[in-house]
Amino acid sequence: MTMTIRPINPRRDDFAAEVTGVDIAAGVSKETAAEIEAAMDRYAVLVFPEQRIDDDQQYAFSQHFGPMETATGDIAAPTERRLSMDINDISNLDKDGRVLARDDRRRLFGLGNMLWHSDSSFKATPAKYSLLSARVIPGEGGNTEFADMRAAWDDLDEKTKADCMPLIAEHSQLYSRGSLGFDQFTDEERVKWAPVLQRLVRRHEGSGRLCLYLASHAGAIQGWPVPEARMFLRDLTEHATQREYVYSHRWRPFDLVMWDNRAVMHRARRYDHTQPRDMHRTTVADRAPTLEQPL
Ligand code: OGA
Ligand code: MN
Repeated sequence: MTMTIRPINPRRDDFAAEVTGVDIAAGVSKETAAEIEAAMDRYAVLVFPEQRIDDDQQYAFSQHFGPMETATGDIAAPTERRLSMDINDISNLDKDGRVLARDDRRRLFGLGNMLWHSDSSFKATPAKYSLLSARVIPGEGGNTEFADMRAAWDDLDEKTKADCMPLIAEHSQLYSRGSLGFDQFTDEERVKWAPVLQRLVRRHEGSGRLCLYLASHAGAIQGWPVPEARMFLRDLTEHATQREYVYSHRWRPFDLVMWDNRAVMHRARRYDHTQPRDMHRTTVADRAPTLEQPL
């Protein structure tokens, strides 16, 4: 099989591409994985259509790209988990496959995925890649949108760039969920998800490009008054998520979409919450906290 990579975003040709001619269930070679990583450095979002994979095959493929995360950012208690700790459960289903009730705590927490974010920016070492496999999708809605943080950085004016460069933000799921009025955290979760520090600007290792590192998890900037920090983060997010920077993915069953959390933000869009939406995510960890990476 020959792998083909084709840009799919009508708004820009260096952001989001489709990859065909690869069978992830069968396993890929080191060489193919290296080609995929090179394409990730260029496009930041890759869509692999028609990949009928199970969790083990998804995990095996993901492992080509670095050390794997465990799903410690999920809110379901171990006894109520539907999937293994190697898989982030991005569904609206309980352990028995039933759609969660409207006021279920797990569902309300999951609504936080509709805020622009970068996965695991609330962990000391955040995520490098996320790989999301669509197993069951609702009839309409539920797109995932991606915003290009490289282009958003490039287009900032020089004064704003200089302001951003030295800043360090505090990230926590308590901030992102708190901004929606979700406050049902246990004491244990408040400790587990205490804020971590991340650079506001980072240099993307594979491409050498600078990127804004934003997420709804960011709720403070070191040395700044909180309202001023949040206002600045909001302004930057508003800039970075203008339509010209966004690719919106409309899911088909068995799409696997892979994105680079160092270079993009993403968010889920609304859908009918009474319909099942079953998505499984594997997550590749970055090599170190952003503060330990060269700028
Ligand atoms: C994720 C996520 C968005 C979606 O899997 O990390 O934010 O559309 N998903 O489900
Ligand atoms: Mn996410």
